[in-house]
Amino acid sequence: MHFELAQNARAAFAAAYGHAPALLVQAPGRVNLIGEHTDYNDGFVLPCAINHGTLVACSPRDDDTVQVVALDFAGATDRFDLNAAIEPRSDALWPNYLRGVIKLLKEAGWPIRGADLLVCGDVPQGAGLSSSASLELAVLQAFKALNGLDGLDGTAMALLAQRAENEFVGCNCGVMDQLISALGQADRALMIDCRSLQAEPVPMPADLAVLIVHSRVERGLVDSEYNQRRAQCEQAARHFGLASLRDLDLATLLARGDELPPLVFRRARHVLTENQRVLDAREALAAGDLARLGALMAASHDSMRDDFEITVPAIDQLVAILQQSIGDQGGARMTGGGFGGCVVALLPQSRVEAAVAAVAAHYRAPNGLPGQVHLCRASAGAGLL
Ligand code: GLA
Repeated sequence: MHFELAQNARAAFAAAYGHAPALLVQAPGRVNLIGEHTDYNDGFVLPCAINHGTLVACSPRDDDTVQVVALDFAGATDRFDLNAAIEPRSDALWPNYLRGVIKLLKEAGWPIRGADLLVCGDVPQGAGLSSSASLELAVLQAFKALNGLDGLDGTAMALLAQRAENEFVGCNCGVMDQLISALGQADRALMIDCRSLQAEPVPMPADLAVLIVHSRVERGLVDSEYNQRRAQCEQAARHFGLASLRDLDLATLLARGDELPPLVFRRARHVLTENQRVLDAREALAAGDLARLGALMAASHDSMRDDFEITVPAIDQLVAILQQSIGDQGGARMTGGGFGGCVVALLPQSRVEAAVAAVAAHYRAPNGLPGQVHLCRASAGAGLL
């Protein structure tokens, strides 16, 4: 997280509230290296937290009022009372991420008092890098620190934030984004089993660069298409009498695939093959086998394009440009929920310059914009700054 961001937050907090903040906390955004649309199927994911996040400057109050200033929304404000019913606001979306987690925190019985908050961040919004999960976790981290909630661990915070997003914001997301924002580790990816919620650190080779390129294609249709994919996966699991696709093996799916509508079959095939790719990618990453890692990322992208149908032509083109530049020294694939947003590439530091040059030379979004490059590091999860 940038030093200047923290400086800005302190100064803006002092300007808004007339005194310095008691403390600063942060929670990171994330990039998923592989394992897409597997989390809500109780499957495997392999994300890392990134060095872009949300920062909250805060001070306790001795009443039960919560005040918020959102620097990235032109200094817009929110204010509510912890003792009244906390409802979503209909005139703006951003306050609802805060209201949702604070409401659930209180309902879960954690003793919390009011607070003055100032929120800012450097996760590009709407890019598929989990700016909303990082906001949720930063707010939870702030309330944890201000109220001394030592028993509230990262997994509990992540589950609370996911529920807030499902029930309060209305997005039916899985738990990956919140878990990695809570539990991320510097220089490590996490292999998360979304059924047991166990997270296993996987060291990133020191020389490996995490290059994120924003396609500059806005993620249209995300919610409706996302929820539809989720329903199709549930339909496939139900057909086999299973609680989730985690319990289905590929041999059974292939043998009995014609019992399913072809579209539903392909959705399930993506999830099952993607789960296996995550397990294989963990091995490849730990062994520093970049050729294998690249092949798995390519297969993941193809499966998202052909079976899950969540890519768009500009993203496919961007991935192809990166894959061609990287060769067998790593790989590239779309990352996140789909329909636009970002591509992630893993490659040796020494090849970054050439990959960035290839994108600059050969990629334009349909609106004429060039790709936007972020060279990231696997970073620590939510915590005090
Ligand atoms: C979004 C959701 C996650 C996950 C990904 C797809 O980021 O918030 O829960 O489902 O899409 O892998």
